[in-house]
Order: sequence, then structure tokens, then C-alpha cells
Amino acid sequence: MNDKREMAVNQSTVPVLVLKGVRRHYIQGKAVIDVLRGIDLTVSQGEMVALVGPSGAGKSTLLHVTGLLEAPDEGEVFLSGAPSSDMDDDTRTKMRREYLGFVYQNHNLQPEFNALENVMIPQMIAGKKKKEAAEYAAFLLEKMKLADRMKHRPAQLSGGEAQRVAIARALANKPHMLLADEPTGNLDPMTSESVFGVLVDVVRETGLSALIATHNPELADRMDRKIALRDGRLEELDTLGMSGRIAFKQRFIEV
Ligand SMILES: Nc1ncnc2c1ncn2[C@@H]1O[C@H](COP(=O)(O)OP(=O)(O)OP(=O)(O)O)[C@@H](O)[C@H]1O
Ligand SMILES: [Mg+2]
Repeated sequence: MNDKREMAVNQSTVPVLVLKGVRRHYIQGKAVIDVLRGIDLTVSQGEMVALVGPSGAGKSTLLHVTGLLEAPDEGEVFLSGAPSSDMDDDTRTKMRREYLGFVYQNHNLQPEFNALENVMIPQMIAGKKKKEAAEYAAFLLEKMKLADRMKHRPAQLSGGEAQRVAIARALANKPHMLLADEPTGNLDPMTSESVFGVLVDVVRETGLSALIATHNPELADRMDRKIALRDGRLEELDTLGMSGRIAFKQRFIEV
């Protein structure tokens, strides 16, 4: 199977994701928790964005709203220019299944299915034939360096391996954007580093965009941009990720 071309997403100048004036609150008893208080964000094709901020700042909430799992109270989420509030339930489900790929802190794999089947399932739900789904699942698992673990069920995998299967599963329907909520948060530092390395490689290779919540400052620094949630608003931080490094070099040369 042709790998890079097979995995590449369509080139487009329309931003993969735009959030405009997004607000989200929760009501807990008599208290109102204003978690997102007017979020504007644009993520371009191929951009890898780290989402940081203290615990409780609203990172997961922002990812849920972006992933169309929760609707904003105000504002709009645009995916490739399409406003999500105009989408009916079927379209929203299709977007979640095919436009977006999700990776969670816990792998959330189906325990009764093996690694290969876990990566086949979303493809078959999206209408792919079993044989093609199996071929592409095997291709993705090889990319994740799991060629010899395809028949293992989640309980027979290490934490890092299970998380790599979860990444393969998130890529199964060739999404345009990957949303990850502390994808290496439950792993030890060395495993976290290697899983994150694989994640970055595959995102770069496929030209995917990614929004990744992380508490790990070193991992955040390896992305193109770093944004922080504070008091319900987003703040752009300096990063020495790819674009940051270019900016740094330019500053250095100019001086
Ligand atoms: N369903 C809910 N009902 C009420 N409050 C909620 C709900 N979900 C989240 N919250 C509150 O909203 C705030 C933001 O939560 P969120 O999970 O988005 O934070 P986070 O930045 O992801 O934190 P962490 O780094 O610990 O994962 C928290 O104060 C949380 O208690
Ligand atoms: Mg969270």
C-alpha cells in the first residue's frame, strides 16, 4: 500500500479549525463555573498546537467543544470553514468519526477485541470493507512499531503499546485533525517520550493538524505553537517548536 500518499490529507488553505468567541459554563448547585470565557483560535493545516494550563483551567472542556462532544453556550466551532451549529446530528457524528481523531489519556480500547480489530472497527463503522480495513489497520500498526502485537488484546499490551494502538485507531479514518487530551499523561517519562515521538512523527508525516493538551512542558515545546488557558481565555506563549525555532533564528540573525 502506498504509505505517505495513502495517509496524506487534502491540501487546503481553509483553516482546519476555527473557534470564534466560544463560551462554556457549568452549573454546579448554585455556583456557575465560567470555564471558557470567549475563546478565539485558528489552527492551520499541518499545525501542531500544544494546549497547556493548570488543572481545572478548561483544557478538556475546550477539547470536548472542539470535538463536537459538547456544544458551546455561545460562539462557533468551524471545521474546514463549516459552522458546526448548522450541522444536524448525523453530520456531527460523521465529522467526529471521519474528520477528527481522538486520543485520550486512557487508551479506551475495546477490551474484547485485539489491536488489529480495535483499529478496524472505526473504519468498518465508516463503511469500509473488512479486508481493506484490516489492511489499513495493519499498515498503521506497523507505523506504530506494533507489527508483532496485532493479535494482542488491550490487557496483553503494555501501557505504551496500548496508547500507540489508540493513536493508530485515531488515524484509522484519515482525519484532518487529531485531538488529544494528555495522551501520555498516564505513562512513565521514558515511555511517554517514545509514544510522544511516534505521535509527532506520524502527525508530521501525514500533514495532520493537532491540538494536544499536555502538562509536560518539554513535550509542549516540541510543537509549533503553545497556547495556554488562563481564567477562561487563551494566551499565545513563546515556543521553540518548529515555527518558534524559525522566529528565534530570524531574531538572532537580525540582531
Ligand atoms: N460536567 C461538569 N459539570 C460541572 N463542572 C465541570 C464539568 N466538567 C468540568 N467541570 C469543571 O470545569 C472546570 C474545567 O475542567 P476541565 O476538565 O476542562 O479542566 P482541565 O484543564 O482539563 O483539567 P486537568 O488538567 O485536571 O485535566 C473544572 O473546574 C471542573 O471542575
Ligand atoms: Mg483535563
